[in-house]
Amino acid sequence: MKRPVAELVGTGRYVPDMVYDNAYFEQLVDTSDEWIRERTGILERHIASDDETLAVMGTRAAEQVLDDVGITALDLDGIVLGTATPDRLLPSTACDLQAELGARNAAAFDIAAACSSFLYSLSVAEGMVISGDFQNVLVVGGDRLSRITDYTDRATCILFGDGIGATLVRPVASGDRGLLSSYLKTDGTLANLLYRPGGGGNHPPDEKMLEERGYYIKMAGREVFKSAVKSMAEACDRALERAGVSAEEVDLLIPHQANIRIIEATAKHAGIPMEKVYVNIDRYGNTSAASIPIALDECVRCGRIVPGSLVLMVAFGGGFTWASALVRW
Ligand code: UT7
Repeated sequence: MKRPVAELVGTGRYVPDMVYDNAYFEQLVDTSDEWIRERTGILERHIASDDETLAVMGTRAAEQVLDDVGITALDLDGIVLGTATPDRLLPSTACDLQAELGARNAAAFDIAAACSSFLYSLSVAEGMVISGDFQNVLVVGGDRLSRITDYTDRATCILFGDGIGATLVRPVASGDRGLLSSYLKTDGTLANLLYRPGGGGNHPPDEKMLEERGYYIKMAGREVFKSAVKSMAEACDRALERAGVSAEEVDLLIPHQANIRIIEATAKHAGIPMEKVYVNIDRYGNTSAASIPIALDECVRCGRIVPGSLVLMVAFGGGFTWASALVRW
């Protein structure tokens, strides 16, 4: 008997209304609109208010998915939420989202793979539906990086924005659409190039940790940049190889939106022209786990993805983690 395939159906996103443009950062740190545009491609990013928790934002995105698919929250039997910025450390944000959405039949848990979290979550959800045990798994990728951003550090604060996106994964008998291949990779030896020193079990919040600003994200930007280019290129190759598909056949590349120069280098390596690459970093900055599902939702809603489109998604993040997925929509 042929194994079922995981298909993606329905999309949703939530991006807060509040916007910080580049001029805002000129008041905060020694930077300029010109530097930020040229070095990153970012023009503005959206920042969550106190009420816009990840669970609340995720619920709004999930409601759009349910609406698209024509099912109710009670039809969900799984919720997998990828994030590096859970609303609280216990329980998982997926549990809070499950309660907020009223999805009481769904098993819910978080996946932590930094900016790669959405693609890791997608792969886990694929396994759940292929096993035959799950029928409707909501996959969410979101982050509220503003909560762990050091707004005195010019090397990081200009980069990050908040948001969340979601899709639904379910089994489909036919093999001509759905998730054709995926690839996940990690190198934990490079963890301290992009990390958050305090707040966890090793360094619980105390006065010293707060004084040293250990609560905030730290990044060795240049080293991360180099690894991101190399790893995202490799991840594109592996996803295409595993599916037996050539780069020319890809209709759309959705890369993680960390830096326009990383996006351009990834596309060049993969042999995919920029007209086939989705870019929204100018409007959102780096939203970590949210960047791919937000882009996916925008592409579906504006008709850049239509039934039959071949979509390659690729991500890189802290860990280091990197991942790719090839989907026939
Ligand atoms: O989400 C997944 C993980 N994240 C990433 O993939 C991000 C990867 N890294 C990057 O995108 C880039 O490395 C950054 C945008 C973070 C930095 O750009 P860069 O071209 O790599 O700059 P750099 O770190 O090599 O710094 C170049 C100069 C330095 O000054 P000096 O030492 O040459 O005098 C920095 O101090 O730019 C300076 N600089 C800034 N200048 C103005 C760093 N940040 C800023 C800033 N405004 N905001």
